[in-house]
Amino acid sequence: MRKKGEKMAKFVCTSCGSLAPGENAPARCPSCGEGGKYRSTELEPTTLEEVRGRARDKLKNICAVYPICDGAPDRICQKENYGKAIGMGGIGLGRSFRNNYLALEAVHLKTRLVGDSFEPDTTFSFSGLTLAMPIFGASTSGMSQYNGAITEMDFCRATIQGCLASGSLSWRGDTAFYRLDSHPGIESIEEARGQGVPIFKPRKQDDLKQLIARAEAAGAPAVGIDLDGAGSTNFARAGQPVYRKTPQELRELVNTTSLPFIAKGVMDPDDAQACVEAGVAFVVVSNHGGRVLDSTPGTAEVLPAIVDRVGHQVPVFVDGGIRNGNDVLKMLALGAKAVLIGRDVIRAAIGGGAVGVELQLRHLHKTLKQAMVMTGCHDLASIGRHLLA
Ligand SMILES: Cc1cc2nc3c(=O)[nH]c(=O)nc-3n(C[C@H](O)[C@H](O)[C@H](O)COP(=O)(O)O)c2cc1C
Repeated sequence: MRKKGEKMAKFVCTSCGSLAPGENAPARCPSCGEGGKYRSTELEPTTLEEVRGRARDKLKNICAVYPICDGAPDRICQKENYGKAIGMGGIGLGRSFRNNYLALEAVHLKTRLVGDSFEPDTTFSFSGLTLAMPIFGASTSGMSQYNGAITEMDFCRATIQGCLASGSLSWRGDTAFYRLDSHPGIESIEEARGQGVPIFKPRKQDDLKQLIARAEAAGAPAVGIDLDGAGSTNFARAGQPVYRKTPQELRELVNTTSLPFIAKGVMDPDDAQACVEAGVAFVVVSNHGGRVLDSTPGTAEVLPAIVDRVGHQVPVFVDGGIRNGNDVLKMLALGAKAVLIGRDVIRAAIGGGAVGVELQLRHLHKTLKQAMVMTGCHDLASIGRHLLA
């Protein structure tokens, strides 16, 4: 993992897509061990505007990469939805997707400007790793279905390597065309020697146990399931079963591994408590980017009550509608310990591969630091509800 403040990479390994630090291409790729197979990053985009422009071209009729990604009814991702695959939008009328955006809009921050100048410390510990920022690439999947813009493996690699290069970490998702014997989510983490967090759909227990064992063997720092994947329209369309999980089943999964277990997709304090009682190590407040049930509240709206209920027992993370460091700070002020970024990291991977993802994460990091300076927060521990205006 590159240290914070280090420059953008100059070389990309053509075997595994990892970004090599430094001025010269190393003899062997530190990630996959292949020798001498590098391409220069000179032809890669150098700005986020360029990355987003390329993503806009590649995602024609799927996502227009709007300056504001809010799930409004007139957005391309929403308006052609009826009967078609969900694409980049939200389920149904997109109300849950939109509510994520609106809930963050309703949060306001106080400026606190009298005091010394400082460089904020955003260092974040996660399962024994030290990350440069409390920001992860969210678990996502299925991008090879969108205009053939990228292969599934290259998408997974781009998010893993781009996140690592910025001092962040990518989570990897699971979708209906991933199989036990062909699963780009876990395979990309295996290829990266465990440097990613697999989140599996709530498949049948035996399949999950096999996948979790692979995550452990790969050296992943944590593993989990997206409970709300029980509402996946992609699995329903493909006729693949996904399940609600009982507390006993959840406990069984937790006990099947020594890795910290993540429950993603929690929107209610009772669900959060049930997860903690089943032994999970992290709770992720999420409505899946508004893709599994229409008309849920925004995640920023439900986050404080969930933190109040279980935040003293386990770290609570959150995602949904977070587009810049200002939004990250709002979520941290509401009580989250870290955040996940979905759509913007997808667009960055499609528009600029690993370099695009690195640019995206660096932008989030920079704007988080700016927001911390403006609100007088020296480090993550000094962020809290006192910042809310
Ligand atoms: C196209 C797409 C695919 C997704 N695939 C998965 C997945 O495989 N597993 C998962 O846990 N969540 C998945 N998600 C949800 C994200 O992990 C995350 O919860 C959500 O995107 C956050 O909202 P945001 O996109 O507004 O940042 C997906 C989201 C999108 C937009």
